[in-house]
Amino acid sequence: MRPIIAPSVLASDFANLQSEVEMLNKSQADWLHIDIMDGRFVPNISFGFPVMEAIKKHAQKPMDVHLMIVEPELYIERFRDAGADTISVHIEACNHLHRTIQQIKATGAKAGVAVNPHTSVNLLEDVIPDLDLVCLMSVNPGFGGQKFIENTYRKIESLKNLIIARNSSALIEIDGGVNEQNAPLLLEKGADVLVAGNFVFSAADPIQTITNLKNVLK
Ligand code: DX5
Ligand code: ZN
Repeated sequence: MRPIIAPSVLASDFANLQSEVEMLNKSQADWLHIDIMDGRFVPNISFGFPVMEAIKKHAQKPMDVHLMIVEPELYIERFRDAGADTISVHIEACNHLHRTIQQIKATGAKAGVAVNPHTSVNLLEDVIPDLDLVCLMSVNPGFGGQKFIENTYRKIESLKNLIIARNSSALIEIDGGVNEQNAPLLLEKGADVLVAGNFVFSAADPIQTITNLKNVLK
């Protein structure tokens, strides 16, 4: 099985964003993972609409937008207008998650929910049939380059069971600390999408590193 590879632009060289995006266009990356941080939901601020629009101008691949912000329902339409193809909100940031999922779908974007390391995937039981994507955080969100949390393997198994039991077509995305060492087991457990930031952008040859991740089970 060949996973969907979604390099996280957060780890790219922001002063050379155009060439970084062009590198991703040439590579076997499937999606561009876009991390939006507000300094409130997470203790860090990344970038917002103008930068996202600049990325969109050059990107030839879908934009997978991960909103690490409070009150995401205030900005869903603007993220769609800025070029988001998939929009994921954090379950911990939504008081009315069902409504927010419908709001995302009404824009025509695919709907995702992201889940922090401490949050049980069982909380998704009642919305999983509506979801296109579940983003399992394998680090505490806020920063790139952190160490992968091993409990993630267990969570993939539980989530996979839930998806099957509820007849959902949601993809399982793993976000944080993904590399060539942990990727094979993540995929064996049932992951469909691998986000990789530092592992790709700190590599001597990012294009080859993306190819290696894409073919990690071969
Ligand atoms: C963390 C972000 C991740 C991050 C992944 O808050 O959601 O997408 O950029 O970066 P690495 O792969 O370096 O852990
Ligand atoms: Zn992310």
